[in-house]
Amino acid sequence: MSMEQWNAVDDYLCSTLVPLDPALDAALASSSEAGLPAINVAPNQGRFLHLLARIQGARRILEIGTLGGYSTIWLARALPQGGTLTTLEVNPDYAELARRNVAHAGLADVVTVRLGDAVATLRQMIEEKTAPFDFIFIDANKESNPDYLQAALKLSRAGTVIVCDNVVRNGRVADRDNQDPDAIGVRRYFEMASANPHLPTTAIQTVGSKGWDGFAISIVEG
Ligand code: DHB
Ligand code: MG
Repeated sequence: MSMEQWNAVDDYLCSTLVPLDPALDAALASSSEAGLPAINVAPNQGRFLHLLARIQGARRILEIGTLGGYSTIWLARALPQGGTLTTLEVNPDYAELARRNVAHAGLADVVTVRLGDAVATLRQMIEEKTAPFDFIFIDANKESNPDYLQAALKLSRAGTVIVCDNVVRNGRVADRDNQDPDAIGVRRYFEMASANPHLPTTAIQTVGSKGWDGFAISIVEG
């Protein structure tokens, strides 16, 4: 199987199942224009996250890693009336662009973009006794994944769903000799999850326009 085939199938799936959307398309266009790396989730993946949040009935969503706000918009649109999404971003230019993209999507009142190092922001949120989130999407620098999982658990309740992006990294995760900090971060995340008897977790590989990668998904048990 080749990258061309994966791309062709993603093109087919996106064009068949995921309607073009002015606000989402504008978010990608402005991100590309501003020179952001094209590491946003793909449209079919964005809708997958959106559906997961809806299936769960999430009213409070936390996203770690905003980039240009593309997945932010997908997730925020899954919220019912009165729902909220908090998203954490360390890069001030990305955060500002995401705020604009979110506003353009009509979601400025729903989404809060918190600028700063996510580990520090999460610590602050825990200290502030922020109410637990229903759905947490981890999609920032991969070497901090263990810290993000630890913080996510402190901001969870029984039933919280935690999804983590990029857990396969072109297969590097399964090569124990590979010392890529991203792969180490993901492996440590999996070790933490598997050592926690109250956090049933699985992971699924994905191929497509974003290459060979994957999602992990967990549910927090009481
Ligand atoms: C990278 C980060 C991501 O969140 C992603 O979806 C793909 C790639 C990266 O840092 O390389
Ligand atoms: Mg990602």
